[in-house]
Amino acid sequence: AKLKLAIVVGSTRRESINRKLAEALAKLGADVFEPSFVRIDDLPLFNQDLEADRPEPTLRLKREIEAADAILIVTPEHNRSIPAALKNAIDWASRPYGKNSWAGKPVAVTGASGGAVGTAVAQNELRMIMTNLAGVVAGGQVFITFKEDLIDANHEITNEGTRSFLLGFLDGFAKIVGKLAA
Ligand code: FNR
Repeated sequence: AKLKLAIVVGSTRRESINRKLAEALAKLGADVFEPSFVRIDDLPLFNQDLEADRPEPTLRLKREIEAADAILIVTPEHNRSIPAALKNAIDWASRPYGKNSWAGKPVAVTGASGGAVGTAVAQNELRMIMTNLAGVVAGGQVFITFKEDLIDANHEITNEGTRSFLLGFLDGFAKIVGKLAA
C-alpha cells in the first residue's frame, strides 16, 4: 500500500509558489505516496479560551494529521521565520496538552522563495519546532529558488536537475518512513 502523505502548505495565497511546488511534489511522489492537502486557511487564530469548545476546523486538522503516515511541509519564509498561518496550524494540532497530533509522525520540510537561499532560515526554525513536537524530522534539506517557469500547468517540474533532486528527496524520505513503519 502507498504511504499516506499529509501535505501542509505554509502559504494561504491563491497563486502561492509553495502550493505549486507542493502540487508538483505530490505528482512526483505518486508512486510511493498517496497525497492529501491539509487546509489551514480556515483555522481561527489560536487562543486557549477556544479549547473548551474546539472549533470544527481545528478538529478536522487533527484528524487529518493523525490519519497520515507522514507529513510534508512546504513553506515560504516570512521575515526570516515561518508564516503565522503555518505556526497557527502547528500550534492547534499540538493541543490539547497530552494529545499532540504530530507525535511520532515523520516530517519532511521544504520550501520555495524568489531569493537565493530560498526559505533556509525558516526551514531551520521549522525543523526545530517539528523535532520538538514530532520527534522525527527526516529527509534532506531542499531550498528552492523559484523561477516563473520551474513548474508547468500540469504540475511538472521543467528543470531536469531540479526534478531528479526532488525525486531523490522524496525517495529518501519514503525509505525512512517505510523503516519507521516496519
Ligand atoms: C516575504 N518574502 C520573503 N522571502 C524570503 O526569502 N525571506 C523572507 O524572510 C521573506 N519575508 C517575507 C515576509 C512577508 C510578510 C512576505 C509576504 C513575503 C517573500 C516570499 O518569499 C514571497 O512572497 C513568496 O512568493 C511567498 O511564497 P508563496 O506565498 O508564494 O508560497
